[in-house]
Amino acid sequence: MIFTVAIDGPAAAGKGTIGRAVAERFGFRHLDTGLLYRAVGVIGGDPVAAARGLVPADLRREGLRSLAAGQAASRVALIPEVRSALVAFQRRFARAEGGAVLDGRDIGTVICPEAEAKLYITASPEVRARRRWLELGGAAAAVLAEVLAEVNERDARDMGRADAPLRPAADAVVIDTSAMAIDEAVRRACALVAARLGQA
Ligand code: CDP
Repeated sequence: MIFTVAIDGPAAAGKGTIGRAVAERFGFRHLDTGLLYRAVGVIGGDPVAAARGLVPADLRREGLRSLAAGQAASRVALIPEVRSALVAFQRRFARAEGGAVLDGRDIGTVICPEAEAKLYITASPEVRARRRWLELGGAAAAVLAEVLAEVNERDARDMGRADAPLRPAADAVVIDTSAMAIDEAVRRACALVAARLGQA
């Protein structure tokens, strides 16, 4: 069976948590596509060469989850040649036999417009910054302000870029998790996938 779940949305909206839970529930493979851009940003040097030469071990590099890696990722993600170098791998992953969940920014719009289930996960910037801050260890209040600034800067760059800007696909189901526990968001995401699989 070929079945793709596309999960897009702004920084720290909960895409990864929801993506992993959906993949586990349905026995699908999961790809966090942000790691591709984070790895290209962390490798440094010529980003186009880094994207073209990316190998699976690069997705397990140290420090990929840091704020600095997120910033580096959103900068290299502006470069059309970087994006195009990563398309084939993502498409193959999405359409291989067995079902796949991909989370990112352009999965439902560019990478896999034919995805059988599309979700756009969002939340207010303050809620998303607080979640990312807790993930990073929840240090002093000043650090929360830094995370909020980082999230806002990255969202503006991701939404404003010319190539594959962040936006919901016309046929995506939007879930705003600002006032929602993550379990509820997972439940809704699973319900959509089940319905699209004809299991509902
Ligand atoms: O985890 P978080 O939502 O904060 O970010 P991420 O998904 O790891 O993505 C890091 C950065 O990579 C984003 O800010 C985007 O600039 C870029 N990205 C992208 O352009 N396209 C994707 N499909 C995934 C990530």
